[in-house]
Amino acid sequence: MAEFPDTRLRRLRELPAMRSLVRETRLSTSSFVYPLFITHGSGIKKPIEPMPGCYHISLDLLAEEIQEISDLGIPSVLLFGLPQEKDSIGSEAYDAEGIIQEAIRLIKKTAPELLVIGDVCLCEYTDHGHCGILSGTTVDNDQTLELLSKTAQAQAQAGVDMVAPSAMMDGQVRAIRKTLDISGFENTPIMGYAAKYASSFYGPFRIAADSTPQFGDRRSYQMDPSNSRMAMLEIESDIAEGADIIMVKPALAYMDVIRQARERFDLPLAAYNVSGEYSLVKAASQMGWVDEKPITLELLTAIQRAGADIIISYHAKEVAAWLKNDH
Ligand code: PBG
Repeated sequence: MAEFPDTRLRRLRELPAMRSLVRETRLSTSSFVYPLFITHGSGIKKPIEPMPGCYHISLDLLAEEIQEISDLGIPSVLLFGLPQEKDSIGSEAYDAEGIIQEAIRLIKKTAPELLVIGDVCLCEYTDHGHCGILSGTTVDNDQTLELLSKTAQAQAQAGVDMVAPSAMMDGQVRAIRKTLDISGFENTPIMGYAAKYASSFYGPFRIAADSTPQFGDRRSYQMDPSNSRMAMLEIESDIAEGADIIMVKPALAYMDVIRQARERFDLPLAAYNVSGEYSLVKAASQMGWVDEKPITLELLTAIQRAGADIIISYHAKEVAAWLKNDH
């Protein structure tokens, strides 16, 4: 490249239309997934305190919410459930009448074109709050695989479009793929939470989902935040087990991992802009310390620039509204 004064990089920054032409990354509503928290009861749309703008929603109010999401042009939702009762084996997760199964049926009736993704994990459903079943005080990997498979199968039978196992058990993608295949759901894709870190950024979600572990933490199954080579191994093994889409989670503190995954693997890559990332932006905005709209768009654009094709974010609705009005 020629140097100054022949090269003046500012030339392409002078006019808004020129800046638009040379823009490398364009956020689009079409790449967003919006997470929802579904609860039992009726008439419930209860604000989740640390996540302003997010709610626990009961089934009778879900259709209205789904209509709004669909009208905004958001292509997909990711479902989390709050069970009636928790027990040691997370029974409601794989109950045919469990909250998520009911929600799936309702959404597919209300907005058949909306892609419904089911989170497959037990932590919202177990009384001890861990992502699998316990043997003593450790989470038993292989016994948990059976229950995760049953959960994925129950969701598929209810009509889910894709399942997303997030429990970080070894072999979970393979186990679920096998179960789906033998029960006639060979065309149901799996989005593996491939590189999921043991992160403090999940704090607000655990308040929202009431899924804080009752003892210990998740470091024996979720990844150590210090590692990125290990993330590549996790992703590689999810792909080998049959994942159709891979994921890095959280997003903002793990942009290097997103970039590395993008360069190394050709499968569609999702990034989960998690609850704590959302809460930080909301809190600082409410304090008047940062300007909410531009800072949100900057962060999400950066996640895409790092290499994510799909962005799972609690900001999806507001971003969709902003992008609509800007055009
Ligand atoms: C379930 C699950 C969690 C999140 C998504 N799926 C919580 C956890 O692992 O503790 C976190 C999402 C968020 O923080 O937004 N295992």
